Amino acid sequence: MSDLNTAQNSASDVKAESRIFPPPAAFAANATISGMDAYHAMCKEAETDYEGFWAKLARENLHWHKPFETVLDETDAPFYKWFEDGLMNVSYNCLDVNLQKGNGDKVAVIFEADGGEVTKVTYKELHHKVCQFANGLKSLGITKGDRVVIYMPMSVEGVVAMQACARIGATHSVVFGGFSAKSLHERIVDVGAVAVITADEQVRGGKHLPLKVIVDEALTLGDCEKVKNVVIYKRTGGAINLTAGRDLWMHDLVANQSDVCEPEWVSAEHPLFILYTSGSTGKPKGVQHSSGGYLLWAILTMKWTFDIKPSDVFWCTADIGWVTGHTYITYGPLAVGATEIVFEGIPTFPNAGRFWNMVEKHKATIFYTAPTAIRSLIKAADADANVHPAKFDLSSLRLLGSVGEPINPEAWMWYYNNIGRGNCPIVDTFWQTETGGHMMTPLPGATPLVPGSCTLPLPGIMSAIVDETGHDLPNGQGGILVVKRPWPAMIRTIWGDPERFKKGYFPEEFGGKIYLAGDGAIRNKDTGYFTITGRIDDVLNVSGHRMGTMEIESALVAHPLVAEAAVVGKPDDTTGEAICAFVVLKRSRPIGDEAKQIATELRNWVAKEIGPIAKPKEIRFGDNLPKTRSGKIMRRLLRVLAKGETITQDVSTLENPAILDQLKEAQ
Ligand code: WT7
Repeated sequence: MSDLNTAQNSASDVKAESRIFPPPAAFAANATISGMDAYHAMCKEAETDYEGFWAKLARENLHWHKPFETVLDETDAPFYKWFEDGLMNVSYNCLDVNLQKGNGDKVAVIFEADGGEVTKVTYKELHHKVCQFANGLKSLGITKGDRVVIYMPMSVEGVVAMQACARIGATHSVVFGGFSAKSLHERIVDVGAVAVITADEQVRGGKHLPLKVIVDEALTLGDCEKVKNVVIYKRTGGAINLTAGRDLWMHDLVANQSDVCEPEWVSAEHPLFILYTSGSTGKPKGVQHSSGGYLLWAILTMKWTFDIKPSDVFWCTADIGWVTGHTYITYGPLAVGATEIVFEGIPTFPNAGRFWNMVEKHKATIFYTAPTAIRSLIKAADADANVHPAKFDLSSLRLLGSVGEPINPEAWMWYYNNIGRGNCPIVDTFWQTETGGHMMTPLPGATPLVPGSCTLPLPGIMSAIVDETGHDLPNGQGGILVVKRPWPAMIRTIWGDPERFKKGYFPEEFGGKIYLAGDGAIRNKDTGYFTITGRIDDVLNVSGHRMGTMEIESALVAHPLVAEAAVVGKPDDTTGEAICAFVVLKRSRPIGDEAKQIATELRNWVAKEIGPIAKPKEIRFGDNLPKTRSGKIMRRLLRVLAKGETITQDVSTLENPAILDQLKEAQ
């Protein structure tokens, strides 16, 4: 973990970036946080009275059924508790509160399907749908504290399913629709789900892909006795099998349900959701989030980072299967009464103008996407003038956002000039599944922007850079990114594995109380701005998707032909990082066409084991892997080979230096 040399871009690679873009005056004039003085004043307030700062915000921004008295409870650190004796309900805060504020007839969700069909749902309608579905779930015997797995396509129904769970106090665990039956099964078992909510099929780029079939397969893999029901949203009407007594249609379940559902008042600490993410070991970890602290941060970041206004049309392009979709689709935008766009499909269908066409059509004002999408659309625009953003009316946009991975300055400039037309600030938001919401990001009406930097922490977030002993490092020196104080939206534990939570995020070496993000970072000498230099553990970031190298290695060695495998990341122009696997077979090393054929088979195998997002881009075969005399695989050298660079490091500790030549090139 502390091997800083393993960071994908070492601190010394961070080039000095001298371009600075101050916020447009008109934007700053109307911004929620206007100017750096306002930002610094808020930071100061948090430093002076940390608990008072958060308590005030929690009182002002959330509806409490019973007000909290205790703000932060640190007695069981690092298992911090926020507002624990307060009672509230997340769905009530997102829906009922908006009806009370007179937003009932305001459009909550503009949904655009893969084929372009548009559905609009008002707050009143969404409230009805959520209440009916919540009553339906209750009729199945699902109650507070039960876990429900959601394996659904992007849809209004997906948002409804999550909100309905929140309404009755059931903890949801959304599994991204691209995960395989095996991955889904692993999550269903680990979380102990009593029900799975899914759809017959999902539609992506004109193709119908099965979901219910995958759920059926997952439930045959064993240890799923707790799952009593599978609820199916009819998306396409494609043929599926229904298991009597277990499976039922969503439309049948809600048909006779009342559209009034008293919310279940829960403690602010009640687990709203568990979302699995990759770590440095093979097993994905269930990141457990709270209700009150989490929702508070979703609301505050909507206001601070996105400067949300009643007239905005907010569009986050993420999938609800990731944390970005949780915080900035299902919860944040609704809790602040915004109109949001939810889209089904992919950015390149029916053509690579889909995003720009949708911005024009729905008059999006805030657009939030991942650098990978931007990079692929740059390529598409260069290749085909018809999908170039210049062809579209993007004048509705006032703010752009980036999330999930570092945005390279070239992509940043393209985004700024071609999508924002030089008028829209870009918020480069650094955060993680574990942090619940943004941690470091420019404030659009305050922070002067520097391409490629997430700039400064939000007020109340005590980010710092330390060395391997936990001591602060001066600006200009790369190190380990930490957060020195607990914050309301932070991860509460790893579901079923509190020890892993403690060791992984609050290691004793650092005193056991400061949060270790798992990223390396460096602060600019003059501005103090942060730049993320990449993960310092064995976690890869491919197209903004987080993946553990060990997970992919375990999948590879599960193939009957494979003896050993080592997976590393290599820089990629479009996906940020690409997966490169070094494989030793149980038989002789294949070459030529045979190597290609086996590589294809292994790629498909990984897709089946984990999901298509985990497919290695490149597979290289060797008679062995480079190892030290004690048998440790030298991943550092594999990373150099994957990049196609020459090894200049000392290899004298290697048992088998000759193997490096064999692994130099892709076959
Ligand atoms: C990891 C977290 C952020 C929510 C979605 C991804 C990387 C995230 C940035 C950014 C540089 C970033 C980090 C982080 N990351 N945002 N703006 N600049 N790196 O959440 O799947 O939990 O991944 O994504 O490495 O640790 P996640």
